[in-house]
Amino acid sequence: MAPVAAASAVEGKPLTRTERLAALEAEVSSCTRCPLHATRTQAVFGAGHPDADLMFVGEAPGFHEDQQGVPFVGQAGKLLDKLLAGIALTRDDVYIANVLKSRPPGNRDPLLNEIQACEGYLFRQIELIEPKVVATLGNFATKLLSGKPLGITRVHGREQSTTLGGRSVLLYPIYHPAAALYTPAMLRVLEEDFGRIPTLLGEPLEPPPGNPFPHPVAAAPEPAVQLGLF
Ligand code: URA
Repeated sequence: MAPVAAASAVEGKPLTRTERLAALEAEVSSCTRCPLHATRTQAVFGAGHPDADLMFVGEAPGFHEDQQGVPFVGQAGKLLDKLLAGIALTRDDVYIANVLKSRPPGNRDPLLNEIQACEGYLFRQIELIEPKVVATLGNFATKLLSGKPLGITRVHGREQSTTLGGRSVLLYPIYHPAAALYTPAMLRVLEEDFGRIPTLLGEPLEPPPGNPFPHPVAAAPEPAVQLGLF
């Protein structure tokens, strides 16, 4: 994928983060890298605060997201809004994106080729937004961003320091709200895990291994990690 232009037409004036995200969104909206482009209503890029310290990464747009072009607007999204309210945040305070930007037909699981085609966009979003905490919702986002095959049941609620977009971030795997919608026990765990987010946002970050002077935005996109997704 071509890198996001780093400078505007006005010579010497660097693009703002919002402008760079808008350029990436335009790229995504016309993307034909996987067959899902033929069946989607529109791509769902992501939404929220471009300078957010907290970013959520879900799986893929569903029916309502595909219709509206906004992530997490269906039932799972309503639960996400409630969970955010429980820690005194709104979706305007955070950034929400998905592993896939296009809806898989019938809301089936993402396929490996679709994830491989789309993951570069997510890594570039993370690189541009520079969040401090990336909360992965469910298995697909957790396995992709951790680069490990461990499922969400084993790793939820346990933050891990990692490097994404050339910077240290705390990866925080939690259950997907859709999974908690009809399972009260899982909802309680999700609420408990959510309750730790404010503390995580206040924690100092470890520098990336081997780099004592982390720079804010890496020039190159994060290489794809595809270790044992399935
Ligand atoms: N589920 C997801 O993983 N993402 C959405 O945007 C909506 C539902």
